[in-house]
Amino acid sequence: MELGVNIDHVATLRNARGEIFPSPVHAAFVALEAGAFNVTCHLREDRRHIRDEDVRLISSLTKRLNLEMAAEDGIIKIALEIMPRSVTLVPERRQELTTEGGLNVLNDIKKYEEINKEFRFKNISTSAFIEPDLKQVEAAKKGGFDFIEIHTGSYANKMSLKEKSVELERIKEAINLAARVELKVNAGHGLDYKNIYNIAILDGIFEFNIGFSIISHSLFVGLGTAVKEMVKIIKSAEFSKLKSAGEVKN
Ligand code: PXP
Repeated sequence: MELGVNIDHVATLRNARGEIFPSPVHAAFVALEAGAFNVTCHLREDRRHIRDEDVRLISSLTKRLNLEMAAEDGIIKIALEIMPRSVTLVPERRQELTTEGGLNVLNDIKKYEEINKEFRFKNISTSAFIEPDLKQVEAAKKGGFDFIEIHTGSYANKMSLKEKSVELERIKEAINLAARVELKVNAGHGLDYKNIYNIAILDGIFEFNIGFSIISHSLFVGLGTAVKEMVKIIKSAEFSKLKSAGEVKN
């Protein structure tokens, strides 16, 4: 299991003062050095945080970039030019504070099939950010995605343990179906230092994409330490799973 760090909020801070710092490119390399497997940037149509030059520069310096994006022609063209390792397609609405809800792949399977063909031709893997909904998992398979990223926002937002366990069940079912149809699984949104463990002990998730909690924590402990602390929790969940499967002693 790996950690992907979303660095959009570094750009939000930079843009708040119209400055050239803090630099998302610098943040990307601190996160990767500290043990992140990937960095994620969301190049929004309104360019509210990450800008074209950020993703162009990061992608020219490392392959470990996951580009989050809407399935819109202009952004697809940029993605095909800069060649990130992977793209994650998300819904986008102008007024939203962050990505709200998952992609409706089911409504547009043909459109996604065409888009995924273009990315596959360039060897860029593709992921659909979807709710833990079995119909959307099947649609993502039909639409030709390599990965799904399960939207964990509902799990993260539920207050009671009972409600959280209902959400975890939905997530487990989505992971199981994805495994049966041979889709790889990532997960993200709203994950933090407290709620990550109960998701990370589930089987079948490859990568967690986490932004807000890590960047917030980094204000107090530094980005490298914030990333390392999150990696440590994810790896400890992995260790517990291996231990209970009898694959490690002690
Ligand atoms: N994954 C996707 C697809 C997202 O849109 C976001 C938010 O930008 C995240 C993960 C990270 O969410 P958070 O900032 O709440 O950790």
